[in-house]
Amino acid sequence: MTITASADWRDPQPLNQAVGLPGSVYTDPEILRIESDAVLARSWQYVAHASRLPTPGDHIVVDVAGRPLLLLRDETGALRALSNICRHLGGPLATADGCGIQQLRCRYHGWSYDLAGCLKCGPELDSIGGMPLSGVRLPSARVEQWHGLVFVALDPATPPFAEFIDGIDAQLVGHDLDSYLLHGRVDYDVHCNWKVYVENFLEGYHVPHVHPALNALIDYKRYVTATGSWHSLQRSPLQSSASFYGAGDVLYVYLWPNTMLDVLPGGLQINRVRANGVDRCRIESEHYYAPGTAQREAARIARDLELSEITQQEDFAICVRLQRAFASGAYIPGRLHPTRENCLHHWQELYRMAMQ
Ligand code: FES
Ligand SMILES: [Fe+2]
Repeated sequence: MTITASADWRDPQPLNQAVGLPGSVYTDPEILRIESDAVLARSWQYVAHASRLPTPGDHIVVDVAGRPLLLLRDETGALRALSNICRHLGGPLATADGCGIQQLRCRYHGWSYDLAGCLKCGPELDSIGGMPLSGVRLPSARVEQWHGLVFVALDPATPPFAEFIDGIDAQLVGHDLDSYLLHGRVDYDVHCNWKVYVENFLEGYHVPHVHPALNALIDYKRYVTATGSWHSLQRSPLQSSASFYGAGDVLYVYLWPNTMLDVLPGGLQINRVRANGVDRCRIESEHYYAPGTAQREAARIARDLELSEITQQEDFAICVRLQRAFASGAYIPGRLHPTRENCLHHWQELYRMAMQ
């Protein structure tokens, strides 16, 4: 049987016959425009760790699928995600992260909202007739928290968060992620479409060829994968000395559509990829470690960060090459490996479905 690219790349493909997406999916500005609404704005998006907002009035300025949002902790201690676009003429309520505020005051004409997003007052508002303040609210997004990680969903039609993470906790036994502390964050700008980085994360097939240092640490023959409704998992035993990771596994968790977790003994790395034009993306990379390790195990952390940096740069280099191939017009998608690349296939099926 001859396998060819399907007539419409959006058609579902069975795993044992699947081929990759066409190059235009990574280079066409119209695709980026569509997926911004159909994928990024219609999914749970990781925005920050809750530890960055410990007290009421603390807030973080975020961008989700191009929509300016404020993540804030209100007077009751609850987290809220409010539009950072004023209901008057679009001014910003905040232009930078901050703490301890009691109200949100627009930087343009001074309309003020409470921390629930209700308009409370503003200069000379009495003169605007027929506008009850109670009817003016900042739109809000749904907020959920999971092991300290805060996610928001802009679209009310986004499936419940519980569906999104269903089955992952059973794979995290022995990892007390709730106790982990933020060590640092690095942002990387990479010259490739955001999906190229995602897809590269979703298969370990390239590890022996792209990542010699990582490959020396994992047992590639025992690398296993699993897929859920909205996530996938890749797990490999580590072959590491007691002075580094010691006994244990590395678990790569993919959360549809653009959040990736590397779970290692005593540590967690979160990579969120954001589209920055059709052929650029920004990787926001955060490192967390179990409490108490900062002083006690500084050398171990330094080695983890060094390996992470090496691995990231190796991935970026291949992703940039792939982007060039996709943009060349000469790329012909080939067959996916049914076991080594089943998580990649799982993502591509979700993507095809979202883009129908
Ligand atoms: S735009 Fe916010 S007060 Fe005018
Ligand atoms: Fe990689």
